Amino acid sequence: MIKIAVLGYGTVGSGVVEVIEKNKDMVNKKSGEELEVKYILDLLDFPDDPYGDRVVHDFGLILADDDVKIVCETMGGVGKAYEFTRAALSAGKSVCTSNKELVAAHGPELLALAKEHNCNYLFEASVGGGIPIIRPLNYSLTAERIEAITGILNGTTNYILSKMEYEGADYDDVLKAAQDKGYAERNPEADVEGHDACRKIAILSSLMTGKNVDCRKIYTEGITKVEPRDFEYAKQMGMSIKLLAISKDAEGKTLAMVSPFLIDGDHPLHMVNGVFNAVFVRGNMLGDSMYYGRGAGKLPTASAVVSDVIDCARHIGKVIMCFWDSEEAELLSIDQSQRRFFFRVKTEGEDKARTLFGEGIQEVRLPGVTKECGFITPVMTEAAFADSYGKLDGMTVGGRLRLEA
Ligand code: HSE
Repeated sequence: MIKIAVLGYGTVGSGVVEVIEKNKDMVNKKSGEELEVKYILDLLDFPDDPYGDRVVHDFGLILADDDVKIVCETMGGVGKAYEFTRAALSAGKSVCTSNKELVAAHGPELLALAKEHNCNYLFEASVGGGIPIIRPLNYSLTAERIEAITGILNGTTNYILSKMEYEGADYDDVLKAAQDKGYAERNPEADVEGHDACRKIAILSSLMTGKNVDCRKIYTEGITKVEPRDFEYAKQMGMSIKLLAISKDAEGKTLAMVSPFLIDGDHPLHMVNGVFNAVFVRGNMLGDSMYYGRGAGKLPTASAVVSDVIDCARHIGKVIMCFWDSEEAELLSIDQSQRRFFFRVKTEGEDKARTLFGEGIQEVRLPGVTKECGFITPVMTEAAFADSYGKLDGMTVGGRLRLEA
């Protein structure tokens, strides 16, 4: 029998206990041993909960119990979660987590600590919730050189953008409705400003390169400036607007970024709508593959944590290889990256836009709209675009959008 401790009895932590109990026979069979949740660590008591008798408030009890071989860290944050994870791994207890903030901030250090103590630090649930993506990168795609990963990695923003696209709704109204339904946090900053997607792509980029991609160095732009009018242009062009988290090989370096992008109607990510997430991976042998599913929520996320628990149970005393060194990956400056851009100008700025961006510029007009027009630039660097776009000062309407091929 393998004893487990769950740290944090919130949404995901209670989901982990529920998955282990509901799927008990299957989970035990696949683990090769019986699993039992012995402790649940939380600040609160849960007297009416069926597992309330397992709740403890002292992490020391868990640490001192040699029967506990696997710890699920579902607390979140980088304070106590970091301290407890280090302590558990140092004691040779494997840790499974959904905590992307901690994985993104301290992944290589915690993996090294696990290796040193002959146990494992697994984090399938930290990216894409219930979607298997960490394990495919670590196990299934190991014969590939991964050239690019493009993900819709945040359910809240994808829900907001889908509502804007299909209902013509305004950003602020959709955000408020999403908050009322509990899809968006009361403080939505981490989601709408792209920080959550940034942490997730930092983790995927690190697994792609085998080196550490520091999320603080990833260019990140959220969805707060996207306007309903942008979706009218997108529709006119047969495109959609998605918050993409991208990591790709570029000029011998890695380009990692998070930004709203216009994507073509035939792009595999075009139809990923609502709270769903998807990760599109390009390998140099396999070509394209895509991983799709629920990127958040109690049971999908808990299911991914429990899949890691099973993996740990199968590998007691053995280290599962994961290539994520502490050496920093060399990132391409976004200024040097190249793509096409979409922007809108007032009628009086149209000639100037044509002069600044040259012959290759394409005009996009909305039926019945006479006061402004949209343009798509040829492929150019971010720096060159910013320079010319800046010269249209006072003549532009709304923001600008990037195009993903
Ligand atoms: N806030 C995140 C999302 C939760 O909306 O996708 C899952 O990480």
